[in-house]
Amino acid sequence: MTELSERILRHLSDNDPVNTVALSRLFNEDHQKIIGALKSIQAHGDLVLAKPQSDKFIELTEEGKMIADTGSHEAKIFNAVSDEGTAQAELMKIPNAKVGFSKAMSAGWILMDKNGGAPIIKKKVQKIVDTVQANLKLILSGHVAQIADNVKQEYKKRKLIQEVVLKSFELSKGPDFSLTLAKLEADLTAEMLTTGSWQALKFKDYNFDALGVPLDCGYLHPLLKVRSEFRQIFLEMGFSEMPTNNYIESSFWNFDALYQPQQHPARDAHDTFFISDPKISTNFPEEYKERVKEVHSKGGYGSIGYRYEWKIEEAQKNLLRTHTTANSARMLYKLAQEKEFKPTKLFSIDKVFRNETLDATHLAEFNQVEGVIADYDVSLGDLIGVFAEFFKKLGITELEFKPAYNPYTEPSMEIFCFHNGLGKWIEIGNSGMFRPEMLLTMGLPENVRVIAWGLSLERPTMIRYGLNNIRDLVGPKVDLEMVQRSPICRLDNTREEGKAFVHA
Ligand code: PHE
Repeated sequence: MTELSERILRHLSDNDPVNTVALSRLFNEDHQKIIGALKSIQAHGDLVLAKPQSDKFIELTEEGKMIADTGSHEAKIFNAVSDEGTAQAELMKIPNAKVGFSKAMSAGWILMDKNGGAPIIKKKVQKIVDTVQANLKLILSGHVAQIADNVKQEYKKRKLIQEVVLKSFELSKGPDFSLTLAKLEADLTAEMLTTGSWQALKFKDYNFDALGVPLDCGYLHPLLKVRSEFRQIFLEMGFSEMPTNNYIESSFWNFDALYQPQQHPARDAHDTFFISDPKISTNFPEEYKERVKEVHSKGGYGSIGYRYEWKIEEAQKNLLRTHTTANSARMLYKLAQEKEFKPTKLFSIDKVFRNETLDATHLAEFNQVEGVIADYDVSLGDLIGVFAEFFKKLGITELEFKPAYNPYTEPSMEIFCFHNGLGKWIEIGNSGMFRPEMLLTMGLPENVRVIAWGLSLERPTMIRYGLNNIRDLVGPKVDLEMVQRSPICRLDNTREEGKAFVHA
C-alpha cells in the first residue's frame, strides 16, 4: 500500500490536480485500491487535498457488451435470411429471435410471405448497417457524447446500457505535501519522553472505530451452573419444563387461584411488589373466576370456604410474582381443561420477587426451583418417596420433614437436610399436596392429587460454592473473578451419606 501511495504522490507532484478514476486507469489498478492508498496517505497528515466528486457514467450491460461484440439481434436475424427466403420457424431458433425479428421488421429489413402456408421470411433490402452495434462500440470506447439523447434513452429501455454513479476524488497537493510517507509512530514511549524525540516524530491518529481485541472471558455464573444441574435432574426423572416467561402476574393467578384469602398478610405491600402500570389485569377465564369467588366466599367441594366477601378488584391487581407456584396454577388449570386427564410432571426454575429487607441471606429477587406431580391418588408417601430420589440425585440423603402451613397445600411440609459444615439441620424447601379447594375449582377429576415443592436456587448454590453472603453471588458487589474461578457444578451423589453437597 505504501508503494502505491508513493506512486500517487509522485504522479501528483507533476500532475496537479488528478482524479482517482483517471489514476486507476493510468496505473491499471482497481479504483478501490487507489482509494485505500489515498486513505493511508491521509493518515500521515495533510499531504494531499481530496475533493469528493461524483460522476455519472454510461456503461454497457452484459447484453449490450455481447451486441457490441457480435452484432444486434435484428442484424443476426437479417444475416440468417438466405436470398431465396428462410422459414420463420427456422429463424426463431436463433437466440433472442423474438426481439430481433420485430426490430428487423420495423426497420423494414425483412418481410413475411404467408402465401405458401408456413410463413417464409425474405430480405427487403440488400444491405443493412447495424447502427446499434456501431453505437454500442462507440460508447464502449468512451465516446458516449456522440450518441443522441433519444438513442441513449432507447438503449436504456432495451437494457443494453445503464447509468452508474462513480464516486471519486479530485486530488491536489496539500499544505504538507511530500513525496514519501514518513513512518508514523503508534506508541508514545518513555524513551521518547525522556529524550524529547517525540517532538520531531509523527504519530498515528487514534482510530476510534477499530474493533478491540476480544476479551478472554464469558463464564457461566454459579447460579446458572447449579440451575443446569437441577434441570438435568428433573429431565432425568421425566419432568417437563413449564413456561415461566412472565415476571408480572395478576393477584388472581399468584394468590386467588391458589386459594390464598384476599386478606392474607402475604398480599400486603410489605411482602409483595405491586405494579402501578399496568395496574390491573382483567382477562380471566370467566366461569373459573366465578368458581374461585364461590369457593373463597361460600366454600364447596366439601369445604366451608373462608366466608368473606371476595372482590374482583383485589384479584385484578398486578404484581411481580412472589412464587413460581403462580405458573404451576396456570399449568394445572390448563391441564384441567383437557378432554382427558393425563398424569403430568412439571418443573420450573426462574425468578420470583418479594419485598424483603435485604440481608446476608435475603434478596428482593431470587430463583425458585419448583416441582409438580399430578396423578391419580398420589399420597404424602409418594411425595416423600419422590423427595428421597430427587435429593439423592443432589447428593442429599439425610432428610427430615416438619409439618408446616401453606394456604394452598394440606398437608404441608418443610424440608430439612443435615448441613455437615454447620453441624445442624437447615431448611431447604417447602412442599405439600394442593388443596381440593384449588384443584376441584379448576375442574381436575376428584381422585387426582397434586404434590408439589419449592426450593430456592440461591441457597444450594451458596452452600456449593462456599459463599456466606448472598450479595457475593448477586448484585453490584459480585467479584467477577469468583465467577471465572468457580468450577462446573456437579451435585455429586457418590459421597458419604449425609455429607452431600451441602457442606460448606
Ligand atoms: N410456593 C411456595 C413458596 O414460595 C413453595 C411451594 C410450592 C410450597 C409448591 C408448596 C407447594 O415457598
